Amino acid sequence: MTRLDGNRIYLRPHEMRDKAVIFAGSAEPEGGRLTGTQGTFTMAQIEAYIDRNSTDDSRAGWVICTLDDTVVGEVVINQIDTDNRSANIRIGMFDPQYFGKGYGTEAMRLALDYGFGVLRLHRISLGVYDFNPRAIHVYENKLGFRREGVLRDALLWDGDYHDEIIMSLLEHEWRGD
Ligand SMILES: CC(C)(COP(=O)(O)OP(=O)(O)OC[C@H]1O[C@@H](n2cnc3c(N)ncnc32)[C@H](O)[C@@H]1OP(=O)(O)O)[C@@H](O)C(=O)NCCC(=O)NCCS
Repeated sequence: MTRLDGNRIYLRPHEMRDKAVIFAGSAEPEGGRLTGTQGTFTMAQIEAYIDRNSTDDSRAGWVICTLDDTVVGEVVINQIDTDNRSANIRIGMFDPQYFGKGYGTEAMRLALDYGFGVLRLHRISLGVYDFNPRAIHVYENKLGFRREGVLRDALLWDGDYHDEIIMSLLEHEWRGD
């Protein structure tokens, strides 16, 4: 994986030195709620996860860094299916102090450029819960993802069911053809 440079952030591959910040991010309650992350991770699981990001051909993952080299989140293209030129993408900031600063939109743009340009993907999809209007706004209005459908009651969180909205972006839509 290569480093991808933006204006206010850059993306670089996961490294073992990131394990503490990824571990802390994985235990952060608001990010966990917004991503519907059930359960917790051990440090050994985080280490295995970092390893997987550099060895698994079905993934392309990066940590998101500000220009002063602070690691603020991660973005991962996963489930890469070369036969059908499709993949999934997910993103998360590691702490709410980093929400709403434009980092997520810029990180998604860099990763999508890589996915469509370098990986030659045709389709990139994602799932987002119905209680996450910030992410929905970024995906639909800022990046051009289109809604495909709804997985009804896909998440059981604190005793309530929530829908997961499935969205995708196709290569010609990203290029603006
Ligand atoms: C979702 C996420 C990646 C977006 O990244 P970000 O850096 O916070 O987003 P940005 O600052 O680039 O853009 C936020 C946009 O949402 C808008 N926004 C913020 N709160 C909003 C709300 N409640 N409803 C609608 N739009 C909202 C902002 O105004 C901004 O849009 P604008 O530039 O048109 O004004 C980030 O907030 C995050 O990591 N959230 C927690 C984990 C998560 O939800 N991951 C996605 C799971 S699918």
